Amino acid sequence: MGKILITGGAGYIASHTNVELVKEGYDLILADNFCNSSREAVRRVGELTGKELSLYEVDLKNIEELRALFDREPDITAVIHFAALKAVGESVAKPLMYYENNITGSLNLYRVMDEKGVKQLVFSSSATVYGDPATVPVREDFPVHATNPYGQTKLMMEQILMDAAKARGWDVTILRYFNPVGAHDSGRIGEDPEYPNNLLPFVSQVAAGIREKVMVFGNDWDTPDGTGVRDYIHVVDLAKAHVKALERLKVKGGVSIFNIGTGKGYSVLEMIEAFSRICGHPVPYEFGPRRSGDIATVYGDPTLAKRELGWEAELGLEEMVASAWKWQSLNPKGYRG
Ligand code: UD1
Repeated sequence: MGKILITGGAGYIASHTNVELVKEGYDLILADNFCNSSREAVRRVGELTGKELSLYEVDLKNIEELRALFDREPDITAVIHFAALKAVGESVAKPLMYYENNITGSLNLYRVMDEKGVKQLVFSSSATVYGDPATVPVREDFPVHATNPYGQTKLMMEQILMDAAKARGWDVTILRYFNPVGAHDSGRIGEDPEYPNNLLPFVSQVAAGIREKVMVFGNDWDTPDGTGVRDYIHVVDLAKAHVKALERLKVKGGVSIFNIGTGKGYSVLEMIEAFSRICGHPVPYEFGPRRSGDIATVYGDPTLAKRELGWEAELGLEEMVASAWKWQSLNPKGYRG
């Protein structure tokens, strides 16, 4: 069995995926530019798995660095491509940086894979590609539509990959994640954002007393309690979907696209209530205006992933919130503490 290159290998989703892959006996090569991640995460994955991981500081924007990595690691047979910038608001303010990083980085990766004859890739995509869907749950064959530069880059990265796969006979699995949350049950690895833009990391910090209160972005949405509804997916379940995706690439060629979610939506208030229950005290919140670009409801139909990948989410809201709280409590300063 060849080695698997993990781009963005020190990040939140990669760290959890790396744990599952090493458990299954995969040999990993990690590449990361550490613009939004830390070596400590990689060290802790090593500690959890009892195996030190090969790690390269590589920026995908630099094709020479990438070539040098492939030259030193001739046994790479497949890639899981996580590396990308992912903050929606920042992408609106700095679109060129987003296109440069996400598109140039991916083009360089695909080009070097082509040069080296690597033909298998699992791509980290996002439910953001469905934009504001006409109906829910969304299926993989729904129209795609980006509403901001970040979403646009994910769509473009998918499209470029599909074209390359067709032309070069690559085997590609595109995973469209819904809202990844939670942490490893050891409490050793988790999400460590510089500033929490997403709901659950923000709620965690409020629960821990680091921030004063959660601002709920609108309570006048067309949803049962007026707050936004999303399909939250435990990061460990999400990690396991990557193992299934790699396994499937060995037996099934071509391009496949899968929604990776639970198929169930929870509102912002349900998430805050669940967190309050788990942490043992009410998490303070206040209703504020809607966030620009937000939508009322999105959740996915994960039927295809179950049928074709043999994957389905096993962990529920309780485990998502409890693991997020354990990570927050044990690591109040994230990996810096
Ligand atoms: C966001 C991105 C999406 C990206 C995903 C990755 C936006 C508009 N969308 O999705 O493109 O793929 O993250 O994880 O940023 N909320 C609050 N208060 C907060 C934070 C969030 O009320 O402080 C609400 C939001 O209005 C939404 C829900 O919580 O209803 C979830 O928000 P968030 O965690 O930011 O995820 P998405 O917006 O679904």
